[in-house]
Amino acid sequence: MHPKVGTILRLFRTEAGYISGELLSRELGVSRTAIWKHISALRNSGYCIEAVPSRGYRLISSPDVINPHEVAAQLNSTTIGRHLEFFKLTTSTNSDAFRLAENGAVEGTVVLTDGQSGGKGRRGRIWSSPAGVNLYCSVVLRPAIMPHEAPQLTFLSAVAVARAIELTTNLIPEIKWPNDLLISGKKVAGLLNEMSAETDGINFVILGIGVNLNMTAGQFPDDLRHPATSLLLESGTEVDRPRFASTMLNELDRLYTDFLTHGFGPVREEWQRRCNANGRQVIVSDSGTECTGGLFIGIDADGALLLRSDDEVQHRITCGDVRVI
Ligand code: BTN
Repeated sequence: MHPKVGTILRLFRTEAGYISGELLSRELGVSRTAIWKHISALRNSGYCIEAVPSRGYRLISSPDVINPHEVAAQLNSTTIGRHLEFFKLTTSTNSDAFRLAENGAVEGTVVLTDGQSGGKGRRGRIWSSPAGVNLYCSVVLRPAIMPHEAPQLTFLSAVAVARAIELTTNLIPEIKWPNDLLISGKKVAGLLNEMSAETDGINFVILGIGVNLNMTAGQFPDDLRHPATSLLLESGTEVDRPRFASTMLNELDRLYTDFLTHGFGPVREEWQRRCNANGRQVIVSDSGTECTGGLFIGIDADGALLLRSDDEVQHRITCGDVRVI
């Protein structure tokens, strides 16, 4: 993707009406011929751009496919998204990001796609990933932390997605431990971290983020274990996918910068505030068997769930399904 193309889209977004070729060439510091080539490239990617002599260019419509130029044009991050890879269709962005990271992709590389044919969920499950409706992306991070601290990074993604939902819709999401995003008790987003590490450090972590944005009821598989939803189904309004993606990535960038400077504390505090179990009694089950119940106290430094049972014993839970009573 050419960075100048992102600048053209940003100008189309901020300037009302036609933008003259002269203004574009002045803002971008390139010739009118170069502008014409960028406009042609945008048209080839599905943008409908009107060109009127002596008035200039006007954006009529954007393509349906989530477009990396649109996402890049709205990024104001320092690390996340400084390199953006886009695939119209792929098997799994997590697998792509893993491969790119193994080949030296810089920290902050984002892999974005319009649809996945083999989206991966937690515990070996499939993540339903129809094209043209949702957000599927994976982020490469290379923090100087120990491997046991890596799960903390999933909590950053959860908070970033929660903030993005609040910033782009009128909905208030809740986080369900370990890292599901819920609206009205139904799952709207899922997160999958993968890591390459040595005993004494991390090579890289992949944050995989899937958010159901404009999925319609008929697009959900029949065999879902838990009820699921999309932002469209909950709010009745279609989500602007590039806007959502860039908002989420900008928030993730802020959280990550904060994490590197101040550690896990601030994100843990925000995560707990947003957790659906906050101050409530919960039951944890593993493979369908109820095993522990108690008052939700919070999460510890490794992201494990802390509960206090009626006999005042504190329990530390590292896996299972949490149900709020
Ligand atoms: C879950 O089971 O809740 C986790 C789902 C994670 C899905 C996302 S979509 C983008 C990225 N690529 C994948 O293959 N999975 C993650």
